[in-house]
Amino acid sequence: MQRLQDRVAVITGAGSGIGLATARRFAEEGAKVVCVDLDEPSGAKAADEVGGLFVKADVTSEDDVVRMYQTAFDAYGSVDIAFNNAGISPPDDDSILETGLDAWRRVQEVNLTSVYLCCKHVIPYMRHQGKGSIINTASFVAVMGSATSQISYTASKGGVLAMSRELGVQFAREGIRVNALCPGPVNTPLLQELFAKDPERAQRRLVHIPVGRFAEATEIAAAVAFLASDDASFITGAEFLVDGGISGA
Ligand code: NAI
Repeated sequence: MQRLQDRVAVITGAGSGIGLATARRFAEEGAKVVCVDLDEPSGAKAADEVGGLFVKADVTSEDDVVRMYQTAFDAYGSVDIAFNNAGISPPDDDSILETGLDAWRRVQEVNLTSVYLCCKHVIPYMRHQGKGSIINTASFVAVMGSATSQISYTASKGGVLAMSRELGVQFAREGIRVNALCPGPVNTPLLQELFAKDPERAQRRLVHIPVGRFAEATEIAAAVAFLASDDASFITGAEFLVDGGISGA
């Protein structure tokens, strides 16, 4: 399927997990992919594999965010799709009673402020083109909260969801769609890191997933490709759950 033929897509966190799977899927569907990551070896490898460009950038830096879209535009002449996906897991004890202000601020910075910066600096390109699709990675916890203490993470993802809704509504008439992707637990390094610290957490999570397993990153990438494509032309401002039924259970 070539739904994304010649569309220019910028993916943050493209070196691993959901971002990497999406870079592969976008390339399969014909897109020109710009892989952004803080981690140079993995980001460069991803770009090489999909025949795209690598931009080493820290999504918490406004200068870096400006530069990554400028690089994409200079190379390919447009920025059609922004998958604002880079993120970090919660700090070790992320209960409201234990999380320190520095840890809280760090999570907001990487998971939420980065999405603000990416939207702020990609929308002018899309406005000029009169079209564009932005997909911001939130999480199922943005919709339903989490019984495992991860208050800074949940709050950051709630912010991503709210921001996506507002931008989706605000820019709909300019042809720019903005959606919040809300994955359930996905088998990626981020999740494996959490479970390595607390092995019982995996079992606690698993019992709440109606399909009885964690998602593979390729299953999330399929949903992102749909949202990025014209097949989703009437979808904007949505909380797009890809969660194995977890939010309905
Ligand atoms: P991952 O850890 O496999 O990949 C994240 C990538 O983001 C890494 O390559 C990392 O180097 C990059 N990154 C981190 N900080 C960065 C920064 N400041 N600037 C640029 N790049 C940076 O994680 P995964 O699981 O693929 O997660 C992707 C997104 O999906 C995150 O926003 C995460 O919160 C979200 N998510 C993940 C779920 C899961 O169960 N894995 C569930 C729901 C949401």
